[in-house]
Amino acid sequence: MSYGLLKGKRGIIFGALDENSIAWKTAERVHEEGGSFVLTNAPIAMRMGTINQLAEKTGATIIPADATSLEDLEKLVSQSVEILGGKLDFVLHSIGMSVNVRKGRLYTDQKYDWTVKGWDVSAGSFHKVMQVLYKQEAMNEWGSIVALSYMAAQRVFPDYNDMADNKAFLESIARSFGYFFGRDKNVRVNTISQSPTPTTAGKGVKGFDGFISYAEKMSPLGNATALDCANYTISLFSDLTQKVTLQNLFHDGGFSNMGVSDAVLQAFEEQQNK
Ligand SMILES: NC(=O)c1ccc[n+]([C@@H]2O[C@H](COP(=O)([O-])OP(=O)(O)OC[C@H]3O[C@@H](n4cnc5c(N)ncnc54)[C@H](O)[C@@H]3O)[C@@H](O)[C@H]2O)c1
Repeated sequence: MSYGLLKGKRGIIFGALDENSIAWKTAERVHEEGGSFVLTNAPIAMRMGTINQLAEKTGATIIPADATSLEDLEKLVSQSVEILGGKLDFVLHSIGMSVNVRKGRLYTDQKYDWTVKGWDVSAGSFHKVMQVLYKQEAMNEWGSIVALSYMAAQRVFPDYNDMADNKAFLESIARSFGYFFGRDKNVRVNTISQSPTPTTAGKGVKGFDGFISYAEKMSPLGNATALDCANYTISLFSDLTQKVTLQNLFHDGGFSNMGVSDAVLQAFEEQQNK
């Protein structure tokens, strides 16, 4: 269903790799709600993914940019404002990657140049994106910037590895930069802490299948899907949430406030009675 919530609004969406990506679903929903946008991803992802199909479907222009490169980001932002015909109202940062996770290095055995790379892609890039937007004065007043996080920023999920630290850093950047963006430009900055979701990045985490079914059993509303996340993001891009800023917003079917659920207890009891 469409409510026209983003009619006339312009933005940039980072991180749509394939149709499972949270950014992909968000782009589809933004389009349905009347928003226009530029799609961007790392140059290498252009070859791996199917972003062209999404661009065709939504009438978006694609501008490749490595989100760790200030030069790429500066071009991306200035070209987007030009192509879209005005300043931006929304930006989605939907980017995450850990080389240690990819290569199966344990948290207790990190290769630190990989740690630094993962940090730069997953968290530093958010600061860079915002600094470029801020300096170019590219955001409209009451615009909205959202990045995606995970609860391993607050609690221990051993196999999430150094991504846990990257997410803690990301959430802190949202608060710190959000202060300046709010004070100086009336722009809000938030992170959404999303349920485990079966995407390329999600499935790359060791033990993901156990992870996602445990969260499903723990959450009174069940896991939030990528489409649910897209819908929540739309609400944060809309004019209905103008005073929400500096927040890390849990979007997880209630998981983050649970201790234990009947479903999880039952699974343990069944195991013990075997
Ligand atoms: N999938 C989950 O379980 C889950 C849960 C909570 C939060 N998140 C977060 O959601 C966001 C989106 O991930 P997703 O699950 O949709 O997976 P995804 O793999 O579809 O998206 C990750 C994106 O990051 C992009 N990327 C990587 N390096 C980049 C770079 N240098 N420059 C620009 N883009 C780069 C990839 O190309 C890809 O499009 C990430 O921040 C992820 O950590 C995911």
